[in-house]
Amino acid sequence: MSHVVTVTGVSKSFGSLAVLKGVDLDVARGEVLVIMGPSGSGKTTLVRCINLLEEPDAGHIHICGQSISCGPNARRNRARAKAVRQLRNRAAMVFQHFNLFPHMTALGNVIEGPLSVRGMPKADAVALGERLLERVGLADKRDVYPARLSGGQKQRVAIARALAMEPEVILFDEPTSALDPELHAEVLRTMRSLAEDGMTMVVVTHEVAFAREVADRVIFMDDGRILEQGPPAQFFSRPAHERTRSFLRLVQPERPAV
Ligand SMILES: Nc1ncnc2c1ncn2[C@@H]1O[C@H](COP(=O)(O)OP(=O)(O)OP(=O)(O)O)[C@@H](O)[C@H]1O
Ligand SMILES: [Mg+2]
Repeated sequence: MSHVVTVTGVSKSFGSLAVLKGVDLDVARGEVLVIMGPSGSGKTTLVRCINLLEEPDAGHIHICGQSISCGPNARRNRARAKAVRQLRNRAAMVFQHFNLFPHMTALGNVIEGPLSVRGMPKADAVALGERLLERVGLADKRDVYPARLSGGQKQRVAIARALAMEPEVILFDEPTSALDPELHAEVLRTMRSLAEDGMTMVVVTHEVAFAREVADRVIFMDDGRILEQGPPAQFFSRPAHERTRSFLRLVQPERPAV
């Protein structure tokens, strides 16, 4: 099976706080991987380590032939800096709080990467940006600034911006948790359609219905480690660990006690 992402032995501490304790993870091409777990278990840190927004203290990150070793013995030369840039372009990130440029229109936000990072001619970038805004249902918001967009619309612009980099994988960190509940559906619908198109996705989310329907695999993180994982049918109905069971009671309270 071809893996888009391989993470081996990734550890990360902030001061004396060990946040990731040797995480191993493979993501197959076209796979939708959902990461769940309690607050502080290291989910955000893990996805930030995958595209090296956060530098792991130890371990190895491999994305589509681009391999980066981390830790005190890793060489910090120009070749590594270039490999990190390339890796980031292959692993686009969608954040909880959108992180759009406030001084750019929806289209401006989407074409910024193609223009400045991919060196695309303006006309091509605009055509791509218009196509992607259409793809996320926002063709009519082309010239609107983020301040005039709803949270769900901002997040869909952020998804279009991620797609504009033509990434191998998109990493989502709680893409709906900053949104009012009535706006979750429009963002989840867009994400589901990306999954149907075969996009490889790593999604930190507590949206159980989304995970059940769209995920190929669900991972449960606890205290800096992957405690358990499995296909959603198994993960949600027969979790192996009591910690997973008590967490699931919190995020799917409508279910009978497991
Ligand atoms: N830049 C940082 N400096 C210091 N501590 C940090 C930093 N980033 C994260 N931490 C700490 O690392 C731990 C794990 O944080 P992380 O954000 O990865 O958790 P999480 O699982 O995403 O939690 P949540 O569900 O609340 O988003 C937390 O205790 C957090 O306070
Ligand atoms: Mg987080």
